This record gives sequence, structure tokens and C-alpha cells, in this order.
Amino acid sequence: MFDESTGMILDEIISSRRTYRMFRMDVPPKESVSGIIQAGLAAPFAAATTGGRGNKYFRQFFVFPRDSRGLTIAGGLLMQKIHMMAEDLEKKMKHNPELRSKAETFSNRLEMIRKAGVVPGVETAPWYIVVAERRGFPPVEQQSLAHCLENMWLKATALNLGFQLVSVTGQMGSDPEFCRLLGIQPDEFELNGCAVGYYQEQLPPSIRPPAEQVTRWME
Ligand SMILES: Cc1cc2nc3c(=O)[nH]c(=O)nc-3n(C[C@H](O)[C@H](O)[C@H](O)COP(=O)(O)O)c2cc1C
Repeated sequence: MFDESTGMILDEIISSRRTYRMFRMDVPPKESVSGIIQAGLAAPFAAATTGGRGNKYFRQFFVFPRDSRGLTIAGGLLMQKIHMMAEDLEKKMKHNPELRSKAETFSNRLEMIRKAGVVPGVETAPWYIVVAERRGFPPVEQQSLAHCLENMWLKATALNLGFQLVSVTGQMGSDPEFCRLLGIQPDEFELNGCAVGYYQEQLPPSIRPPAEQVTRWME
């Protein structure tokens, strides 16, 4: 049983969780990263869909330090993917005004990253972590990964560390070169990623509506 003060601490951690995009140069210790990964492992997984196939545990973590050879390769492959996604979306939007109005903000974001030449969270933070979940049926790995990443995010928050999702990682599960870098087979795992480091400046809790405003109690 938890007492009230434990609940209050959890509320505080949840409301303090923010997306950090500016990291200090100094590197949080490996023990902190391991603690974050352990929290990710505690997250739920889709037990009915993950087969027991493969000789590896169905959830794997790959940790890239800033300035490592692996990170340089990963960063290049992620940037290539951003270029491909931007060009593909631009082509599709050309003949589809409805898609253009829906996807314009995302398309601008891809363009901004292309111009900056750096994938946010990769090479801008001391640690880039790829999380992999073995593909199963029906395919719900990205949902599982989202639970895993939220746990990691909350743990990072409790350790006073900044955390940023690197969503483009989600596009890399079938990329032969990216998978070779991780030592996994293409299409074996779904991927997602995040960056962790000391934040430059602490952000205030984000503003959300009160629950009553967005809740309908059904009869
Ligand atoms: C599915 C999903 C993907 C996201 N991808 C990214 C990302 O690639 N890079 C990033 O900086 N933030 C990403 N975010 C973070 C959101 O932009 C952020 O959570 C939102 O703006 C609210 O801010 P907060 O996290 O500080 O409360 C993502 C969030 C979600 C839920």
C-alpha cells in the first residue's frame, strides 16, 4: 500500500515531465541511464502478441554516447531518412490539398531539420537510446514502445534529467544499414528512440486543462 505522500511525489514527477531540447555538455553517469532502462523494462508489453521467438529478450536497448562512431553513423542514416520522408511527403502533398493542410506543420518541421543538418536529440545530447520491441501479431509494438518510453521519461524526470523523444527512429526498423549497426535483422523489431542528458534550464510544468473540462461521465 502506498501512503498519500508517495502519491503526491508521483503527481509531482508526472506534472514535471517535460520535453527538453537543450542539453548541457556534461554527461550523466551510465548508472542513471541503466536506471532509466530498468524503468522502461518495467513498462507493460503486449503479452498476447509477442511470440517467444528469437534468442534475445523481446525488448532491447541500444545506447549511443555523443561523439561515438556509432552515433555518427546512426545520425547520418536518420538524416537520410528525414530527407526521404520530406521529399516523399512533398510529392504527395503536391497533388493532395487536403493532405497539404493536414501535414504542413510536419512538413515544415522536416524542412527545418534538413536545413539544420542535425537530427534533434542525436548529437545534441550526451546519450541517444534506441529501444526495440520484437514484432508480433497483431502489430502493436509502437504502442508497447510508447509505454516503455513514458516509463523511461518519468524515471529521467525523477533523476532531474532532460528527455527528448527522437521519433524518426520509429522509421528505421526496416532500414538494413541501421539494423546492421544495431546487430539485428531488418523487420525483426520495431524501433523508437530518445535522448537523455542534463537539461540546460529547467522548464515549468506544462499547462493542461483540468480533468473536469475534458471528461464526460457516461451513463
Ligand atoms: C508520439 C510523439 C512523438 C513525439 N516526437 C517528438 C520528437 O521526435 N522530437 C521532439 O522533440 N519531441 C517529440 N514529441 C514531444 C512533444 O512535442 C511534446 O510532448 C509536446 O509538445 C508537449 O510538451 P511536453 O512534453 O513538454 O509536455 C513527441 C511526442 C509524442 C507523443
